[in-house]
Amino acid sequence: MTPARPADKHSFPTPPSRVEEGVGTGTARLAILLSGRGSNMVALVQAAQTGALQGLAEVAVVFSNRPDAPGLATAAALGCATASLPSQGRPRAAFDAEAAALLQRYQPDYIVLAGYMRILSPAFIQPFAGCILNIHPADTRAHQGLHAYEWAFDNMLPETKITVHLVDEGLDTGPILAQQTVDLRGADSLAEVERRGLAVEHELYARALAALIKKTKGGHAEQREASRPLTNSDI
Ligand code: GRF
Repeated sequence: MTPARPADKHSFPTPPSRVEEGVGTGTARLAILLSGRGSNMVALVQAAQTGALQGLAEVAVVFSNRPDAPGLATAAALGCATASLPSQGRPRAAFDAEAAALLQRYQPDYIVLAGYMRILSPAFIQPFAGCILNIHPADTRAHQGLHAYEWAFDNMLPETKITVHLVDEGLDTGPILAQQTVDLRGADSLAEVERRGLAVEHELYARALAALIKKTKGGHAEQREASRPLTNSDI
């Protein structure tokens, strides 16, 4: 892959040396964004090392808007470059512009949201348009926003659908890339609903991303074109 790199116009400190490693190696560079525990981040890191993303992607940075996010410490322990910028008390557009500029220093091909608890403004979305992915623990056509497992549990749904989608300026409204059904029959607690759902999330996210990378051989323009839903044969 010869990705189109975002322009490097900002004056952040030079990131750790790992940043240089991926340039020219043909692997897609991932910036994984989280705000909490980071179990999806761990699954993606492992997939890049030994799983569905091996040889296709590398983790350029794990970023958080919460410097104390447990997932950030986990990422560092896994050997990932990490960065954070506190969002608390910051106007949304100003924070998002600063976060986007910081991330551009890591030259990501994809921004991979993994429990990143922020609604993104155009200041963040536009620099990475078509290259931001999210995982949502429900069918985004049926449920948007927080508490999707609670929604499934409270409504005693027999199944839910984990969704990987591209991010646009709406709340969980972007084009769907992949979905997988989770059987919730007999799940008698919220913890059990989450356990079953997360097991699917951890596997689906890497597979969907791998399929997108394989389908997308160029930079941002081609990635925008790649927004048709993946078919079963893709993943
Ligand atoms: C996951 O359920 C994900 O689908 C949602 O936020 C949660 C993050 O969990 N967007 P984790 O931090 O990856 O464990």
